[in-house]
Amino acid sequence: MGLIFLIGFMGSGKTTLGRKLANKIGYEFIDLDHKLEQQVELSIAEYFTLFGEDAFRRLESEVLKKTIYPENVIISTGGGLPCFFDNMDWMNAHGRTVYIKLAPKTLADRLESGKEERPLLQEKHGDALIGFIEQKLAERESFYLQANVIADGLSLTAEKLEQILNGN
Ligand code: S3P
Repeated sequence: MGLIFLIGFMGSGKTTLGRKLANKIGYEFIDLDHKLEQQVELSIAEYFTLFGEDAFRRLESEVLKKTIYPENVIISTGGGLPCFFDNMDWMNAHGRTVYIKLAPKTLADRLESGKEERPLLQEKHGDALIGFIEQKLAERESFYLQANVIADGLSLTAEKLEQILNGN
């Protein structure tokens, strides 16, 4: 199957599902956010604070394109990555892309905890968090929808994802 990119909003389960699926089908797993953090020896939150979002977007695009991927690999991507530069086209040209789709309310529930590590979500709670997600998702969805496969993220499991990728 080659390179499989999991895309979607923060909190959609890209990393958790990606790791499980990779284990299940004997693929390697790469989390691009984690790879970026290792390269710069800073957390993403620290990188945002020091250099700002524009620099982060340039760096994440570079990490996407310069990483040497194993032959068979599941790659989880940061929520904004498909929406900048030609990253979405690049992923579609080099592998298969899967959009894990969830509604804003579901994403907000999942993101209410664990916001500390996500610079875009700091200080946002309750209705403000849902409103922010609705707005960002509206901006981003035209990119996400360019994925080869769109998977309903609600109660999605590694098993289901494997079936979807096999076309069942
Ligand atoms: C971001 C999502 C994060 C990370 C950064 C920006 C975004 O990744 O890349 O905080 O713009 O949606 P996750 O989707 O893995 O949380």
